[in-house]
Amino acid sequence: MVKLTPPMGWNSWNTFGANINEQLIFETADAMAAAGLPEKGYEYLVIDDCWSLKERDKDGRLVADPEKFPGGMKAVADYVHSRGLKFGMYSCAGTLTCAGYPGSFEHEFVDAETFAGWGVDFLKYDYCYHSPIIHGKYLYRRMGLALENCGRDILFSACSWGADETHEWIKTTGASMWRSTGDIFDSWESVKSLVKEQEKLHPYNGVGCFNDMDMLIVGMYGKGNVGVKGCNDTQYKTHFSIWAFLGSPLMIGCDVRSMSQAARDILCNEEIIRINQDRLCRQPVKLHGIWGGEDLLIYSRQLENGDLAIGMFNMSEGKAAARLNLDQVGLPFSTGKTLDATEIWTGDKVEVKNAIMVRELEPFDCAVMRCKVVDL
Ligand code: GLA
Repeated sequence: MVKLTPPMGWNSWNTFGANINEQLIFETADAMAAAGLPEKGYEYLVIDDCWSLKERDKDGRLVADPEKFPGGMKAVADYVHSRGLKFGMYSCAGTLTCAGYPGSFEHEFVDAETFAGWGVDFLKYDYCYHSPIIHGKYLYRRMGLALENCGRDILFSACSWGADETHEWIKTTGASMWRSTGDIFDSWESVKSLVKEQEKLHPYNGVGCFNDMDMLIVGMYGKGNVGVKGCNDTQYKTHFSIWAFLGSPLMIGCDVRSMSQAARDILCNEEIIRINQDRLCRQPVKLHGIWGGEDLLIYSRQLENGDLAIGMFNMSEGKAAARLNLDQVGLPFSTGKTLDATEIWTGDKVEVKNAIMVRELEPFDCAVMRCKVVDL
Protein backbone atom coordinates (compact mmCIF):
# COMPACT_ATOMS: atom_id res chain seq x y z
CA MET A 1 0.00 0.00 0.00
CA VAL A 2 1.09 3.60 -0.47
CA LYS A 3 0.85 6.03 2.42
CA LEU A 4 1.23 9.62 1.32
CA THR A 5 1.90 11.22 4.73
CA PRO A 6 3.55 9.92 7.93
CA PRO A 7 1.42 7.26 9.67
CA MET A 8 -0.04 8.17 13.09
CA GLY A 9 -1.37 6.05 15.93
CA TRP A 10 -0.59 4.38 19.25
CA ASN A 11 1.70 1.45 20.07
CA SER A 12 1.71 -0.71 23.22
CA TRP A 13 5.49 -1.14 23.68
CA ASN A 14 6.70 2.04 25.39
CA THR A 15 4.36 1.77 28.35
CA PHE A 16 3.22 -1.84 28.51
CA GLY A 17 5.98 -4.07 27.08
CA ALA A 18 4.87 -7.67 27.66
CA ASN A 19 1.94 -6.65 29.90
CA ILE A 20 -0.66 -6.58 27.18
CA ASN A 21 -4.09 -8.18 27.01
CA GLU A 22 -7.51 -7.88 25.43
CA GLN A 23 -8.89 -5.68 28.21
CA LEU A 24 -6.05 -3.18 27.85
CA ILE A 25 -6.51 -2.98 24.09
CA PHE A 26 -10.29 -2.53 24.38
CA GLU A 27 -9.84 0.21 26.98
CA THR A 28 -7.16 1.88 24.89
CA ALA A 29 -9.40 1.87 21.82
CA ASP A 30 -12.19 3.41 23.93
CA ALA A 31 -9.83 6.03 25.35
CA MET A 32 -8.42 6.95 21.94
CA ALA A 33 -11.93 7.43 20.58
CA ALA A 34 -13.08 9.37 23.67
CA ALA A 35 -10.05 11.69 23.49
CA GLY A 36 -10.83 12.41 19.82
CA LEU A 37 -7.46 11.02 18.68
CA PRO A 38 -8.73 9.50 15.40
CA GLU A 39 -10.06 12.92 14.36
CA LYS A 40 -6.57 14.38 14.89
CA GLY A 41 -5.10 11.70 12.58
CA TYR A 42 -4.07 9.00 15.07
CA GLU A 43 -5.66 6.13 13.17
CA TYR A 44 -3.65 2.98 14.02
CA LEU A 45 -3.78 1.06 17.32
CA VAL A 46 -0.78 -1.28 17.28
CA ILE A 47 -0.04 -4.27 19.54
CA ASP A 48 3.74 -4.73 19.75
CA ASP A 49 5.76 -7.79 20.83
CA CYS A 50 4.61 -10.53 23.31
CA TRP A 51 1.09 -11.21 22.04
CA SER A 52 1.51 -14.85 20.88
CA LEU A 53 2.20 -18.27 22.32
CA LYS A 54 5.83 -19.45 22.21
CA GLU A 55 4.93 -22.22 19.74
CA ARG A 56 3.14 -22.21 16.40
CA ASP A 57 0.17 -24.58 15.96
CA LYS A 58 0.38 -27.88 14.08
CA ASP A 59 -0.25 -26.10 10.76
CA GLY A 60 2.63 -23.73 11.40
CA ARG A 61 0.42 -20.75 12.20
CA LEU A 62 0.98 -18.13 14.90
CA VAL A 63 -1.42 -18.42 17.84
CA ALA A 64 -2.54 -15.55 20.04
CA ASP A 65 -1.89 -16.25 23.74
CA PRO A 66 -5.33 -17.38 25.01
CA GLU A 67 -4.66 -16.04 28.50
CA LYS A 68 -3.95 -12.55 27.19
CA PHE A 69 -6.42 -12.60 24.31
CA PRO A 70 -9.17 -15.13 25.21
CA GLY A 71 -11.49 -13.97 22.41
CA GLY A 72 -8.77 -14.31 19.74
CA MET A 73 -7.26 -11.62 17.52
CA LYS A 74 -10.18 -11.35 15.11
CA ALA A 75 -12.36 -10.17 18.01
CA VAL A 76 -9.71 -7.62 19.02
CA ALA A 77 -9.51 -6.33 15.44
CA ASP A 78 -13.32 -6.07 15.25
CA TYR A 79 -13.42 -4.08 18.51
CA VAL A 80 -10.65 -1.71 17.38
CA HIS A 81 -12.42 -1.19 14.05
CA SER A 82 -15.71 -0.50 15.83
CA ARG A 83 -14.03 2.48 17.54
CA GLY A 84 -13.10 4.03 14.20
CA LEU A 85 -9.48 2.87 14.35
CA LYS A 86 -7.26 0.59 12.29
CA PHE A 87 -5.56 -2.40 13.87
CA GLY A 88 -1.81 -3.08 13.91
CA MET A 89 0.26 -6.08 14.97
CA TYR A 90 3.91 -7.05 15.27
CA SER A 91 6.25 -9.75 14.02
CA CYS A 92 9.93 -10.13 13.23
CA ALA A 93 12.17 -11.01 10.27
CA GLY A 94 14.15 -13.40 12.47
CA THR A 95 13.40 -16.82 13.90
CA LEU A 96 12.29 -15.14 17.13
CA THR A 97 10.95 -11.71 18.02
CA CYS A 98 13.12 -9.48 20.21
CA ALA A 99 11.29 -10.76 23.30
CA GLY A 100 11.66 -14.41 22.24
CA TYR A 101 8.30 -15.23 20.64
CA PRO A 102 8.13 -16.94 17.21
CA GLY A 103 9.31 -14.71 14.36
CA SER A 104 8.15 -14.90 10.74
CA PHE A 105 11.38 -16.19 9.15
CA GLU A 106 10.42 -18.87 6.60
CA HIS A 107 6.75 -18.31 7.50
CA GLU A 108 6.31 -14.93 5.81
CA PHE A 109 3.47 -15.84 3.45
CA VAL A 110 1.45 -17.91 5.93
CA ASP A 111 1.82 -15.19 8.58
CA ALA A 112 0.73 -12.44 6.19
CA GLU A 113 -2.31 -14.58 5.38
CA THR A 114 -3.04 -15.08 9.09
CA PHE A 115 -2.82 -11.34 9.78
CA ALA A 116 -5.10 -10.60 6.83
CA GLY A 117 -7.60 -13.18 8.11
CA TRP A 118 -7.71 -11.46 11.50
CA GLY A 119 -8.37 -8.05 9.94
CA VAL A 120 -4.94 -6.53 10.59
CA ASP A 121 -4.19 -3.20 8.83
CA PHE A 122 -0.58 -2.55 9.90
CA LEU A 123 2.43 -4.78 10.56
CA LYS A 124 5.50 -3.67 12.50
CA TYR A 125 8.35 -5.97 11.46
CA ASP A 126 11.40 -6.21 13.73
CA TYR A 127 14.96 -7.43 13.06
CA CYS A 128 16.07 -9.53 16.06
CA TYR A 129 17.43 -13.07 15.55
CA HIS A 130 17.68 -12.56 11.80
CA SER A 131 19.74 -14.87 9.63
CA PRO A 132 23.47 -14.14 9.72
CA ILE A 133 23.70 -15.24 6.09
CA ILE A 134 20.67 -13.70 4.34
CA HIS A 135 20.88 -9.91 4.07
CA GLY A 136 18.10 -7.85 5.65
CA LYS A 137 17.01 -6.46 2.30
CA TYR A 138 15.96 -9.94 1.20
CA LEU A 139 14.12 -10.61 4.45
CA TYR A 140 12.15 -7.37 4.25
CA ARG A 141 11.40 -7.90 0.55
CA ARG A 142 9.90 -11.29 1.40
CA MET A 143 7.48 -9.92 3.95
CA GLY A 144 6.74 -6.88 1.78
CA LEU A 145 5.75 -9.15 -1.07
CA ALA A 146 3.79 -11.46 1.26
CA LEU A 147 1.77 -8.48 2.52
CA GLU A 148 1.12 -7.19 -0.99
CA ASN A 149 -0.28 -10.64 -1.84
CA CYS A 150 -2.29 -11.38 1.30
CA GLY A 151 -5.57 -9.99 0.02
CA ARG A 152 -5.75 -7.07 2.48
CA ASP A 153 -4.28 -3.57 2.55
CA ILE A 154 -1.67 -3.85 5.33
CA LEU A 155 0.76 -1.03 6.01
CA PHE A 156 4.31 -2.40 6.29
CA SER A 157 6.29 -0.78 9.12
CA ALA A 158 9.91 -1.92 9.00
CA CYS A 159 11.96 -1.92 12.20
CA SER A 160 15.59 -2.74 11.48
CA TRP A 161 16.82 0.30 13.46
CA GLY A 162 18.75 1.69 10.49
CA ALA A 163 21.09 -1.34 10.62
CA ASP A 164 22.86 -2.75 7.54
CA GLU A 165 22.42 0.54 5.66
CA THR A 166 18.62 0.22 5.75
CA HIS A 167 18.21 3.59 4.02
CA GLU A 168 19.83 2.22 0.86
CA TRP A 169 17.32 -0.58 0.26
CA ILE A 170 14.21 -0.02 2.35
CA LYS A 171 12.25 1.59 -0.50
CA THR A 172 12.63 -1.65 -2.49
CA THR A 173 10.64 -3.62 0.11
CA GLY A 174 7.19 -2.03 0.08
CA ALA A 175 7.65 -0.53 3.56
CA SER A 176 5.71 2.68 4.26
CA MET A 177 7.90 3.59 7.23
CA TRP A 178 11.23 2.37 8.56
CA ARG A 179 12.94 2.74 11.92
CA SER A 180 15.87 5.01 11.25
CA THR A 181 17.12 4.96 14.84
CA GLY A 182 17.70 2.66 17.79
CA ASP A 183 15.09 2.32 20.54
CA ILE A 184 13.77 5.35 22.38
CA PHE A 185 13.71 5.63 26.19
CA ASP A 186 11.79 8.10 28.28
CA SER A 187 14.64 10.50 28.99
CA TRP A 188 15.88 13.77 27.49
CA GLU A 189 19.28 12.19 26.65
CA SER A 190 17.48 9.60 24.51
CA VAL A 191 15.54 12.29 22.61
CA LYS A 192 18.74 14.22 21.95
CA SER A 193 20.67 11.21 20.73
CA LEU A 194 17.91 10.08 18.35
CA VAL A 195 17.71 13.55 16.82
CA LYS A 196 21.47 13.44 16.22
CA GLU A 197 21.34 9.90 14.77
CA GLN A 198 18.72 11.14 12.36
CA GLU A 199 20.70 14.03 10.87
CA LYS A 200 22.46 12.17 8.08
CA LEU A 201 19.24 10.38 7.13
CA HIS A 202 17.04 13.40 6.31
CA PRO A 203 17.53 13.01 2.54
CA TYR A 204 15.98 9.52 2.69
CA ASN A 205 12.65 10.64 4.16
CA GLY A 206 9.78 11.32 1.82
CA VAL A 207 6.39 10.45 0.37
CA GLY A 208 5.50 6.79 0.72
CA CYS A 209 8.36 5.66 3.01
CA PHE A 210 8.95 7.70 6.14
CA ASN A 211 11.93 7.79 8.53
CA ASP A 212 10.55 6.51 11.82
CA MET A 213 12.35 8.03 14.81
CA ASP A 214 10.50 5.58 17.14
CA MET A 215 7.38 5.88 19.24
CA LEU A 216 6.70 9.04 21.21
CA ILE A 217 7.42 9.25 24.93
CA VAL A 218 5.11 12.25 25.48
CA GLY A 219 3.13 11.80 28.69
CA MET A 220 5.09 8.85 30.12
CA TYR A 221 6.73 10.79 32.98
CA GLY A 222 9.21 7.96 33.63
CA LYS A 223 6.56 5.25 34.03
CA GLY A 224 6.27 2.05 32.02
CA ASN A 225 8.42 -0.28 29.96
CA VAL A 226 10.86 2.28 28.48
CA GLY A 227 10.49 4.74 31.34
CA VAL A 228 13.83 5.97 32.63
CA LYS A 229 14.07 9.39 34.22
CA GLY A 230 11.08 10.79 32.41
CA CYS A 231 10.83 14.30 30.98
CA ASN A 232 8.90 17.45 31.87
CA ASP A 233 6.11 18.86 29.72
CA THR A 234 8.39 21.42 28.04
CA GLN A 235 10.72 18.62 26.98
CA TYR A 236 7.77 16.54 25.73
CA LYS A 237 6.52 19.54 23.73
CA THR A 238 9.95 19.97 22.11
CA HIS A 239 10.33 16.21 21.48
CA PHE A 240 6.92 16.10 19.78
CA SER A 241 7.65 19.23 17.75
CA ILE A 242 10.94 17.81 16.42
CA TRP A 243 9.43 14.44 15.50
CA ALA A 244 6.60 16.22 13.69
CA PHE A 245 8.90 18.74 12.02
CA LEU A 246 11.28 16.08 10.71
CA GLY A 247 8.41 14.10 9.16
CA SER A 248 8.53 11.08 11.48
CA PRO A 249 5.46 8.88 11.95
CA LEU A 250 3.72 9.94 15.16
CA MET A 251 2.97 6.88 17.28
CA ILE A 252 1.82 7.68 20.82
CA GLY A 253 3.51 5.57 23.52
CA CYS A 254 1.91 6.68 26.80
CA ASP A 255 -1.11 5.18 28.55
CA VAL A 256 -3.91 7.08 26.80
CA ARG A 257 -6.42 5.86 29.40
CA SER A 258 -4.85 8.13 32.02
CA MET A 259 -3.16 10.71 29.79
CA SER A 260 -2.51 14.11 31.41
CA GLN A 261 -4.22 17.16 29.93
CA ALA A 262 -0.78 18.58 29.13
CA ALA A 263 0.17 15.45 27.16
CA ARG A 264 -3.12 15.53 25.28
CA ASP A 265 -2.67 19.20 24.41
CA ILE A 266 0.82 18.48 23.07
CA LEU A 267 -0.21 15.43 21.03
CA CYS A 268 -3.27 17.14 19.61
CA ASN A 269 -1.76 20.45 18.46
CA GLU A 270 -3.38 20.72 15.05
CA GLU A 271 -0.90 23.16 13.53
CA ILE A 272 2.09 21.04 14.53
CA ILE A 273 0.34 17.96 13.12
CA ARG A 274 -0.41 19.95 9.96
CA ILE A 275 3.33 20.49 9.41
CA ASN A 276 3.98 16.77 9.96
CA GLN A 277 1.22 15.83 7.54
CA ASP A 278 2.09 18.43 4.90
CA ARG A 279 1.18 16.96 1.53
CA LEU A 280 4.53 17.80 -0.09
CA CYS A 281 6.64 15.94 2.53
CA ARG A 282 9.65 18.13 1.73
CA GLN A 283 13.01 17.35 3.28
CA PRO A 284 13.92 19.38 6.38
CA VAL A 285 17.00 21.61 6.11
CA LYS A 286 19.39 22.06 9.01
CA LEU A 287 20.28 25.72 9.41
CA HIS A 288 22.88 27.59 11.43
CA GLY A 289 22.00 30.29 13.88
CA ILE A 290 24.11 33.39 14.42
CA TRP A 291 25.89 32.28 17.64
CA GLY A 292 24.30 29.37 19.49
CA GLY A 293 26.10 26.07 20.10
CA GLU A 294 25.25 22.56 19.00
CA ASP A 295 22.36 22.39 21.48
CA LEU A 296 20.43 25.02 19.54
CA LEU A 297 18.89 23.25 16.56
CA ILE A 298 17.27 25.21 13.75
CA TYR A 299 15.47 23.63 10.81
CA SER A 300 13.29 24.85 7.98
CA ARG A 301 10.91 23.02 5.69
CA GLN A 302 9.01 24.14 2.62
CA LEU A 303 5.28 23.53 2.93
CA GLU A 304 2.36 23.54 0.55
CA ASN A 305 0.96 26.87 -0.72
CA GLY A 306 4.44 28.42 -0.62
CA ASP A 307 4.49 28.49 3.19
CA LEU A 308 7.65 27.84 5.13
CA ALA A 309 8.08 26.23 8.54
CA ILE A 310 10.97 27.25 10.77
CA GLY A 311 11.69 25.30 13.95
CA MET A 312 14.07 26.45 16.71
CA PHE A 313 14.78 23.83 19.37
CA ASN A 314 16.72 24.58 22.54
CA MET A 315 18.07 21.20 23.65
CA SER A 316 19.99 22.68 26.60
CA GLU A 317 19.18 23.44 30.21
CA GLY A 318 20.10 27.12 29.76
CA LYS A 319 18.26 29.91 27.97
CA ALA A 320 19.09 30.38 24.30
CA ALA A 321 18.87 33.32 21.93
CA ALA A 322 18.12 32.04 18.44
CA ARG A 323 19.07 34.37 15.58
CA LEU A 324 18.48 33.14 12.04
CA ASN A 325 19.71 34.87 8.92
CA LEU A 326 17.02 34.29 6.28
CA ASP A 327 19.62 33.96 3.51
CA GLN A 328 19.66 30.27 4.37
CA VAL A 329 15.98 29.72 3.56
CA GLY A 330 16.23 31.61 0.28
CA LEU A 331 15.18 35.08 1.41
CA PRO A 332 18.18 37.43 1.43
CA PHE A 333 17.42 41.14 1.69
CA SER A 334 17.92 41.51 -2.09
CA THR A 335 14.72 39.55 -2.85
CA GLY A 336 12.61 42.39 -1.43
CA LYS A 337 10.67 39.76 0.53
CA THR A 338 10.48 38.75 4.15
CA LEU A 339 8.50 36.38 6.37
CA ASP A 340 5.28 36.95 8.26
CA ALA A 341 5.90 34.40 11.02
CA THR A 342 3.48 33.08 13.61
CA GLU A 343 4.74 30.87 16.42
CA ILE A 344 2.37 27.93 16.69
CA TRP A 345 2.46 27.08 20.43
CA THR A 346 1.98 30.67 21.64
CA GLY A 347 0.31 32.37 18.67
CA ASP A 348 3.00 35.10 18.88
CA LYS A 349 4.10 37.06 15.81
CA VAL A 350 7.86 36.60 15.53
CA GLU A 351 9.92 39.58 14.55
CA VAL A 352 12.13 39.63 11.44
CA LYS A 353 14.51 42.60 11.26
CA ASN A 354 17.14 43.15 8.56
CA ALA A 355 16.49 39.61 7.27
CA ILE A 356 17.17 38.15 10.72
CA MET A 357 14.56 36.23 12.70
CA VAL A 358 14.97 36.48 16.45
CA ARG A 359 13.51 34.34 19.22
CA GLU A 360 14.48 33.86 22.85
CA LEU A 361 14.00 30.32 24.11
CA GLU A 362 13.59 29.05 27.66
CA PRO A 363 15.52 25.91 28.73
CA PHE A 364 14.44 22.86 26.66
CA ASP A 365 11.78 24.92 24.89
CA CYS A 366 11.14 25.38 21.20
CA ALA A 367 9.50 27.74 18.76
CA VAL A 368 7.82 26.46 15.62
CA MET A 369 6.85 29.11 13.12
CA ARG A 370 4.52 28.78 10.16
CA CYS A 371 5.52 31.60 7.83
CA LYS A 372 4.14 33.38 4.77
CA VAL A 373 6.42 35.03 2.25
CA VAL A 374 5.44 38.73 2.08
CA ASP A 375 6.79 42.00 0.64
CA LEU A 376 9.32 43.89 2.72
C1 GLA B 1 12.79 -3.91 19.44
C2 GLA B 1 12.07 -2.74 18.77
C3 GLA B 1 11.13 -2.09 19.77
C4 GLA B 1 10.13 -3.12 20.27
C5 GLA B 1 10.86 -4.31 20.87
C6 GLA B 1 9.91 -5.45 21.20
O1 GLA B 1 13.66 -3.48 20.44
O2 GLA B 1 13.00 -1.80 18.27
O3 GLA B 1 10.45 -1.00 19.16
O4 GLA B 1 9.29 -3.52 19.22
O5 GLA B 1 11.84 -4.81 19.98
O6 GLA B 1 10.58 -6.56 21.73
